[in-house]
Amino acid sequence: MQSTGRGNFGSKLGVILASAGSAVGLGNIWRFPTEVGRNGGAAFILVYLCCVFFLAMPVMVSEFVIGRHSKANTVGAYRALAPGKPWIVAGFMGVLGGILVLSFYSVVAGWTLHYTLQSLGLRLMGHQDFGEVFNQFVSNPWKPLVYQYVFLLLTHFVVARGVESGIERFSKVMMPMLLVIIVLLSCFSLTMPGAYDGLNFLLKPDFSKVTTRVVLSAMGQAFFSLSVGIGCLATYASYFKKDTNLVKSAVGVCAIDSMVAIMSGFIIFPAAFSVAGVQVDSGPGLVYITLPHVFNMAFENIPFIGYLFSALFYVLLLLAALTSTISMHEIATAFIRENYKCSRQKSAVIVTLICIVLGTACSLSFGPWADIKIWGMGFFDLFDFLTAKFIMPLGGILITMFVEWYLDRKLVVDELTNGGTVRVRGLRFLLFLIRWVAPIGVGIVFLNELAG
Ligand code: PFF
Repeated sequence: MQSTGRGNFGSKLGVILASAGSAVGLGNIWRFPTEVGRNGGAAFILVYLCCVFFLAMPVMVSEFVIGRHSKANTVGAYRALAPGKPWIVAGFMGVLGGILVLSFYSVVAGWTLHYTLQSLGLRLMGHQDFGEVFNQFVSNPWKPLVYQYVFLLLTHFVVARGVESGIERFSKVMMPMLLVIIVLLSCFSLTMPGAYDGLNFLLKPDFSKVTTRVVLSAMGQAFFSLSVGIGCLATYASYFKKDTNLVKSAVGVCAIDSMVAIMSGFIIFPAAFSVAGVQVDSGPGLVYITLPHVFNMAFENIPFIGYLFSALFYVLLLLAALTSTISMHEIATAFIRENYKCSRQKSAVIVTLICIVLGTACSLSFGPWADIKIWGMGFFDLFDFLTAKFIMPLGGILITMFVEWYLDRKLVVDELTNGGTVRVRGLRFLLFLIRWVAPIGVGIVFLNELAG
């Protein structure tokens, strides 16, 4: 097993904040409200929470077991725990998945950087048609690329600094800031006129809206939001110490992530409902088209509030994106570093360069390369599809099966109880979820998806 000189998270808080930093990202603040808006509000949220608890959380715990026990990157983990066995495919899928996610995610992160600077410089206000502003920006042949590259470089520098002085230190500063901003923004939003309708939409479930498609979307969203299925959290867990309580940490991360997702809904929907004519099911444009419109209206009434609201919102999105991109980057960086025995800096450079190339293709698919289609999709949509709909669920099935069917039961229980020193309530139930519910549940949803 490779265990020397890899670095560790220095504290328990660091473990939770770094893992929650990976989980909380554009997925919560941008993708979740979009899905809620499209899939009918409260009913979707309930289905989503079930997917988090019964399907994604068991995968997260399994990743923690694999990572902490092997103390290796996601490929090295399978090599150490199942030498010569085909399980290693799950490890390679994870490295590929991490690179693909980072490539398309950094496009949206780049847009966020642009919107943050625009809102800080007061240049987001006063437009008539925010849809036009957005479309012009994303289809520009070079502007979005510049922001995307800057963002990838920011990610690169944090990862290159290492586990404790880069990832952990950064997460410890950013995550509390992010939580404070999110609470402030929800308070703002809930006091806007018409906020009640937004709350109603979020809190009153209409179960007639729950279709198979809604369940599929909820599961995809849960996996994406919790960063599970591609060995990201297994990689982080390889830096956990022996006394980290794996189950408690997983529950903590799921709780923080779900809370931030729901609070993002509290920010976005009351604000959106307060402006007549604004559509809440406008899809991915919700954050870049609908919200600027809302901020603009607020700005016209009370300029200071409008400015503060918009600037804080985009700073929040930016911080959340950055704590997630470093975790995606780390999957492949750790793999290259340990597999090819090169320095962390060199491995990080290789990953960044690959993502710049692939990420460029994703960004250009909104502009000059819009006509290039593979299986009917541009690069951005293709990478999104391959990861959220294919690699992550398949990875989730393999990871839980590996832990409950391949690994020795004693080893797993030892990891979960830290060698019998901590008592885990509901351990049997958790093992049941890992053994049966998660692989079968995800399998059914996955096959349905492929068939559709
Ligand atoms: N969980 C992140 C989000 O919600 O934005 C996205 C993500 C991070 C996906 C890390 C995959 C990953 F490995």
